[in-house]
Amino acid sequence: MAGIAVVALGHADPTLAQLMYDQAIQLTHCSNLYHSPWPGELAKLIIETTKSHSPQTPFQKVFLANSGTEANEGALKFARKVGKQRGGDTKTDIVCFDRAFHGRTFGALSVTPQPKYQKPFAPMVPGVKVGQLNDIAALETLVDEKTCGVIVEPIQGEGGVYEASEEFLTALRERCNKVGAVLIYDEIQVLLLSRSVDNSSVDCLGVESCGHITISRLHLLRMCSLWPSHWRMAFPSAQF
Ligand SMILES: Cc1ncc(COP(=O)(O)O)c(C=O)c1O
Repeated sequence: MAGIAVVALGHADPTLAQLMYDQAIQLTHCSNLYHSPWPGELAKLIIETTKSHSPQTPFQKVFLANSGTEANEGALKFARKVGKQRGGDTKTDIVCFDRAFHGRTFGALSVTPQPKYQKPFAPMVPGVKVGQLNDIAALETLVDEKTCGVIVEPIQGEGGVYEASEEFLTALRERCNKVGAVLIYDEIQVLLLSRSVDNSSVDCLGVESCGHITISRLHLLRMCSLWPSHWRMAFPSAQF
């Protein structure tokens, strides 16, 4: 298995093959009408691993999805939901940044402001504002009382390798706190198997997000529906 910037184990890894075989001869799919032990186990593992690397982390919950774009759909929906709770029906705007790539489903595509991806499928989901990465001065007008969420790649991947500065992420965090917006880090492209949560932007920069989307170490198992493992998205309990 291989994809762009994901699944780095190569082909026919014996441990992976055995693991998938062992599961396949037990059960290949279980609808969410029935209990499956794996999602809970995986969520626990992710939180415990995160806490062992970063004891101060506020992350306590995990939302599992099958792909990066679905992860972002979930994150954007969380932001809208939280926005309505905090500011009513007008707090629905979502801010994203130039050159970003967040996926190909409609919500994620709408915060991917690149004509080559959006043009064939326009119009996009309304309520999206686009800013420039690292433009601290613009944050005050970009992120306002109507903003329910901000989605940012701390290191942009698909759009070229552009890093958000620590100062920018700190200012963004502060602005989001001020207006009550959810801050979402999308690290799907840059956190690979050889890296782990302790290398994420949250830990390197000490600037926390509200929702944090990454490829987990178990991303290699994404093809196996009982182990939906592409990403984790954890929220401080105080957010809800
Ligand atoms: C930053 C980022 N977010 C989201 C996605 C979408 O992930 P997926 O292709 O698993 O839907 C990608 C894919 O490359 C990505 O780089």
